[in-house]
Amino acid sequence: MALYHRKVSKKGKQANLKAQRKMKRSLPLSRRKPKDVGESVSTPLCRSLSKWSSTADETKKQLHGLLAKLGAVGAPTILFQLMTFIFLGMGPIEESLNCVEYFAGEQAVTTAWAEHGFAACPFEIRLNPLADILSTKGFVLALLMSIMLKDGGFAMIATVCSTWVFVNRATSRRSIWSPLGDISVKSVAAGNEMVSRMALILWVLEAKKSFWLYEQPQTSLLWEHPRMQSFLKSNIVYKTHMWMGSYGGLSPKGTHLWAPCEQVSKFSLPLPQKEWDHQLVAKKVLPDGSVQVTGNGALKQSQAYPKQFGKATVCVWLNTPCRTFSTNYEKASTKKIPSFWKGNMDKWADANLSDVMQFLSLGTLK
Ligand SMILES: C[S@@+](CC[C@H](N)C(=O)[O-])C[C@H]1O[C@@H](n2cnc3c(N)ncnc32)[C@H](O)[C@@H]1O
Repeated sequence: MALYHRKVSKKGKQANLKAQRKMKRSLPLSRRKPKDVGESVSTPLCRSLSKWSSTADETKKQLHGLLAKLGAVGAPTILFQLMTFIFLGMGPIEESLNCVEYFAGEQAVTTAWAEHGFAACPFEIRLNPLADILSTKGFVLALLMSIMLKDGGFAMIATVCSTWVFVNRATSRRSIWSPLGDISVKSVAAGNEMVSRMALILWVLEAKKSFWLYEQPQTSLLWEHPRMQSFLKSNIVYKTHMWMGSYGGLSPKGTHLWAPCEQVSKFSLPLPQKEWDHQLVAKKVLPDGSVQVTGNGALKQSQAYPKQFGKATVCVWLNTPCRTFSTNYEKASTKKIPSFWKGNMDKWADANLSDVMQFLSLGTLK
């Protein structure tokens, strides 16, 4: 059998190439070869990424760095998606904050850090209605702030404790056997969702080796929340007891602090021996002989940190060695990045993320 070989002239070759290029342009997206956008992202996303402008390389590098850090701590898969969407929408994000204060209230921590010349930012609904962690944009803002924190920076966290503490047990029905309590009570359900969302942010803070400090009154059951329990299973966390009264608080107020560094124990100072005027709870004996305990105005007031406590956070952080990323972590942890667009992953229904995902994915092909 003779081989058939058609000779093509130079002119003909050029015409062929032109026709091929034209055909390529008109091919449906799925048949086109994706541009080089790194190995850890899948095809539809590649196409979105390839649309990026001149900052694309910088963004990809930053995103990939963060994903590698999340991979290194074994963060939940949903965070890889959330982070990718945030970077898709924002481009490169400046990591310029030394301190973020979640649920900042009177901002004793933010103020102390700013007075030391550090870049500090509060997240607080009373300061900015947008900063509502239970809203879609508020949660994205809270996540963004964790990305903006420098590696090894400081993060103060004081989620609303009202339904987690002892005085609310009759209403919340929380216990160590049933930490999520009575979810038919609105405030209890909101408290659960708030902690689920904060747990996600905590993973980002942990991945960035920040010195995060999670504060709760000593009777709070917040760390019994299943998301906090699974965080504890994967990470080293220290807990210490301290008194707000040691920092000039109006009452002793026993408080627990959780942190990734053993230096957290430095917050534990002796309690001044004196008469304390402010009672945080009122006790009443009911006709059947049982005792009813309710929080009073002073309990609400005691939420605000004394100025000295804010100053102590700077001092302890300055005297704590930076946590280091293990050498070659990026190479090793790239392998740990899950294939986060496929499979049956935990969608964190308890954090109520469908609106967040929808909001973030607008304008992408996801
Ligand atoms: C336990 S207090 C923290 C007080 C703070 N440590 C201080 O020194 O004033 C909780 C704070 O969270 C704020 N907050 C309540 N719900 C919020 C929400 N959905 N999003 C953001 N902040 C919220 C409250 O206004 C309150 O200031």
